[in-house]
Amino acid sequence: MTEPDSALAKPFLKWAGGKRQILPELHKSFPVEFEQFHEPFVGGGAVFFNLLPRTAVLSDANKELIGTYNVVKNKVEALIGKLEKHIYDKEYFYRIRAQDPTELSPVARAARMIYLNRAGFNGLYRVNSKGQFNVPFGRYKNPRICNAANLRACSAALAPIDVKCASFETVLRRAKPGDFVYFDPPYIPVSGTANFTAYQKNGFGMANQEKLAEVFDKLTDQGIQAMLSNADVPWIHERYRRHAIRVIKARRNVNSNAERRGHVGEVVVTNYR
Ligand SMILES: C[S@@+](CC[C@H](N)C(=O)[O-])C[C@H]1O[C@@H](n2cnc3c(N)ncnc32)[C@H](O)[C@@H]1O
Repeated sequence: MTEPDSALAKPFLKWAGGKRQILPELHKSFPVEFEQFHEPFVGGGAVFFNLLPRTAVLSDANKELIGTYNVVKNKVEALIGKLEKHIYDKEYFYRIRAQDPTELSPVARAARMIYLNRAGFNGLYRVNSKGQFNVPFGRYKNPRICNAANLRACSAALAPIDVKCASFETVLRRAKPGDFVYFDPPYIPVSGTANFTAYQKNGFGMANQEKLAEVFDKLTDQGIQAMLSNADVPWIHERYRRHAIRVIKARRNVNSNAERRGHVGEVVVTNYR
């Protein structure tokens, strides 16, 4: 078997808010040079797999997601073996969905996560109040559940990388002057109130957005390069006014209602020029 080429690695999960479509725009804002790369809201990792930095710390608060990254990194052949056994069938999907992931081995748990992501509606990740995955079966012609070549390439790309389950503010303990931190948090909703106590469907309210802005300011004071994506809303322009803000237009497919898909303004904030 030839060595997998990490340069060919593409995200192995579909993830809401994935940055794939606006990568060319983001490229314009990346710093020219940096030491270590940090991505504290890694999600599907579109930016990481595009940049493929030599050294990086990837993190996210989603335990299931990070467990999957670590199995792709450390046990890719066993993972492929399990994933190849999964089939695209409605009844089978609901049986796998009903499993308690905490009772599975790490490899079976990661295979279940990738399977549900490939076969479920729109590649969404959503759990109910009990933490049970509740995305319905997706209608596809012939979805590719197991892309073994890509999983091997992802495993090679992740080999030198540290992947952690952690909340975003812990990046302050790891990042050093000269490093680059890219933040892609859950966005502030464009409609509705940007009220600090308002309940947010994505569980990431304005108190978290403020905490994130404080982390961004601390990194700036420490000479650490930081970049943030978020929605183009007045609060962002006001709160990040001491930094460089660039507005970009992007097409997003996160909305299941086709009519409401479309152009949502996004911004890129950087603490360097
Ligand atoms: C918009 S998505 C990131 C998209 C990603 N960059 C991509 O390309 O697919 C936001 C991510 O933030 C994570 N998240 C939510 N709250 C968090 C927190 N407090 N700390 C770290 N990650 C968090 C979610 O699990 C989700 O994966």
